[in-house]
Order: sequence, then structure tokens, then C-alpha cells
Amino acid sequence: MKSFIGSVDFFKGNDPEEIAKKYGTPLYVYNEDIVRDRMLRVAGVIRKYPYRANYSCKTNTNLEILKIANSVGVNADAMSEGEMRMLLRAGFSPDRIFYVPNNVSSEEMQFAIDNNIMTSLDSLDQLDRFARLCPGGRCAVRINPGVGAGHHEKVVTAGKKTKFGIAEEDIDGIFETAKKYDLKIVGINQHVGSQYMDPKPFLEAVDNLLRIAMRFNKLEFIDFGGGYGIPYHKLDDEAEYDMEAFSREFTKKLDVFVREYGCAPLFKSEPGRYCVAEGGVLLGRVHALKQNSGVKYVGTDVGMNVLVRPSMYDSWHDIEVISEGKVVERVNGRMEKVTVCGNICESGDVLCRDREMPKIKDEDLICVLDAGAYGYSMCSSYNSRPRPAEVLICSDGSVRLIRRRETYDDMFALYEGC
Ligand code: LLP
Repeated sequence: MKSFIGSVDFFKGNDPEEIAKKYGTPLYVYNEDIVRDRMLRVAGVIRKYPYRANYSCKTNTNLEILKIANSVGVNADAMSEGEMRMLLRAGFSPDRIFYVPNNVSSEEMQFAIDNNIMTSLDSLDQLDRFARLCPGGRCAVRINPGVGAGHHEKVVTAGKKTKFGIAEEDIDGIFETAKKYDLKIVGINQHVGSQYMDPKPFLEAVDNLLRIAMRFNKLEFIDFGGGYGIPYHKLDDEAEYDMEAFSREFTKKLDVFVREYGCAPLFKSEPGRYCVAEGGVLLGRVHALKQNSGVKYVGTDVGMNVLVRPSMYDSWHDIEVISEGKVVERVNGRMEKVTVCGNICESGDVLCRDREMPKIKDEDLICVLDAGAYGYSMCSSYNSRPRPAEVLICSDGSVRLIRRRETYDDMFALYEGC
């Protein structure tokens, strides 16, 4: 693919240079149509049985993105009180929120209990804590299915090397706690990890979870977690996750289970990245070009505080170059090897190293692709740089500021009496 933003008309006819001038850079830009399309795709993964997709909102908690999810009709999962509050604020009713925390305080659990939000506990200790707060109540438990997957070891969330979930050998402990406090375990869930293009490990974990599910009576739901990958190398024509083939394999496994279990509980999944990654780009401005020991550095305002994925996981993000409002074509013979970096005081503040890019000029824009997931939601104000703004290219082509840039006054507002 020569240009993603060109091929999908990401800016819907708007000039990215004008958008960047109006709202400043760095700037997250989302395309409503793409987000809606991906959310609709995940909502239709299982069609034969009762099924719900939960948008995993840790990926992108912008209120307007949550409102889009709400209007598409997907449910949502939350990891924290903050995420529950955001979802409630966006209009999700409590019965459409699934709280999947890890190592949280009684106060945070109480917030879910008070708001009638279904909670999943991911250790025997947390289950006991919940049971003491809510004897006779209803909850779910997160199982570690023994197999994990993901683009980096830091995002593999099941298997032997992770803090998440209750291991199969500890399942008797769940029944003991449930009996002691008259708790009803109405659901089980898992999450194997994030960003896999090959669904095999996920499907293996499905087998494991379904085998474990047979030990639970009258489950109301089974949630298989998220992790569906997106093509981060789309400019090199990487194929999309094959949702249809995945859906067929997944359904076959459910067929076997439903026959043996005698009924179909509500099946769920929890994709985050798949819903929003491709619907977001990050615009940044080039402020310096220099040569250091033979390496050509392109210095931009997209620091690791704005997008941490490349420095945190060595993640690849395709980058397009926009000069005077036009995407610069990637033409053989007119490319050069550059290292694109940000403005943060760390040597790891690098978006990509030694990458063939179209020739870049000072004051050009860079457009970092697939930035809608784990972009803004993981950004920080490191080096006392204010967090960026976010705009939405709406379905009707209008451009709307959906979160303003942080100001220095916002930063000072946290101090009292100074
Ligand atoms: N459910 C649970 C319980 C999770 O922990 C996660 C992600 C998801 C669902 C959604 O996974 P997804 O469909 O987005 O892969 N910051 C990393 C990814 C961390 C994922 C953490 N858990 C990154 O930028 O790659």
C-alpha cells in the first residue's frame, strides 16, 4: 500500500496541514468511520450463539470514542475505577460494563459493587476480599488458561510467566470461597495477551477455558478476552487479521462445548486494539534535521511521552510524511534512511531507527499510523510537556476537537498553596 491515509481518505478531504496549524502538534486525530467499522466487525464475530463484544476501553478512553462504542452497541470492560467512571459518563448502563481488575483495594471493589457492575476477580485473595464485601453476591473469576500470546513478553497476560488469572490447579479454592460466603460464580473469563495475527494460541486457550468451564455449574457467561491483531506493517502490505476464518474456527469450538454443556451461556470477547488502533493517527512536526556519526536524525515533537509504544516495546508504527498538506510518495530511489525521534531527554526517545522514508524537510509533518490504541491512553507529561489534544474527523467530514491540549495551568492546578 502506497499510502494508508490516502487510500482510506483518512482526513475526509480536510487538509492535515490546516488541522495541525489549527490545533497544534503533536495531535491525535481519529476517524469516526474507521472506529465504527472495526467495532461493528468485532460485534459480529460469533453469530450462531448469544454473543457480546466488550470494547476494552484501556485502549482509548476518550469520552467521544466511548460514546461511539456506546452507539454501536458493544459492551465494555474496565480495569479501574477511572475506567468505570468514564464508561458511566459516556452513557454505558452498569449492566454493560465488565470490571476486570488486578490487585485492587476494597474501596475500588466497593465502587463496582455500589454501582452494580459485574466484577471478575483474578486471584483467590481478591476473590476472598470481594466475598467479604459482598457475601451472597454474584461475580466472575479470571482463569489463567495456561497459554499466552502477544507481540512482546510485556503484553502476554496468560501462561506461566504472568501475574494474571487463577491457575487451573487453584480452581478448587474458588469453589471453597464461593461456598464459604455463599457467592455465586456466574461467569469466567481469560485474556491471553495482545496483538497476535495468528489465532492459534488464542484458540488453544479457548479449548482450555471451555474444558475448565465444564467444572462450573450454570455459567451465565464465558468471556474469552481480546488481543486480535492489526497490521502495523500495512505500508508493506501486511494482511489484516482474518476475522472470518477466525470466527469459523471459534464457532466450531463453541459447537462442541454447547453440546456437552447442554446449553449456551452468553459468549463474550474483549478486543481493544482492533477497535481503535487503525482509526487513529498521530500528527507531529519536524523541528530539526541532523547527522550524528553517520546517522541522519529527524527531530520531531512526537516524544515518548506522547506515544510510548516504540520505546516501551520496540513497536513498529508506519509513518507517512506530509509536506505542504500532501502525502510525500514513497518512490524507490527517492528514499533515505533516517532515525525519527522526539524531544524528550532520553536516548530511547526514538520512533523508528534506520528506516527508509521519503525525504523529509524541516517543518514537514509526520503522520504516525495505527496510533488510536494505547496512544493517548498511555501518554504522560514527562519532561513537563503538556499532553496533546485529540480531534475527531466525524462521519460527515467535519473536524471536532474532542479533548483540548493540556495547559501549564492544568499542571499547576494540582498543587495546593504553592
Ligand atoms: N482484556 C483484558 C483483561 C486486557 O488486559 C486487555 C489488554 C484487553 C482485554 C484488550 O487487549 P487488546 O484487544 O487491546 O489486545 N499497551 C500494550 C498492550 C497492553 C494490553 C493490556 N491488556 C500495547 O501498546 O501493545
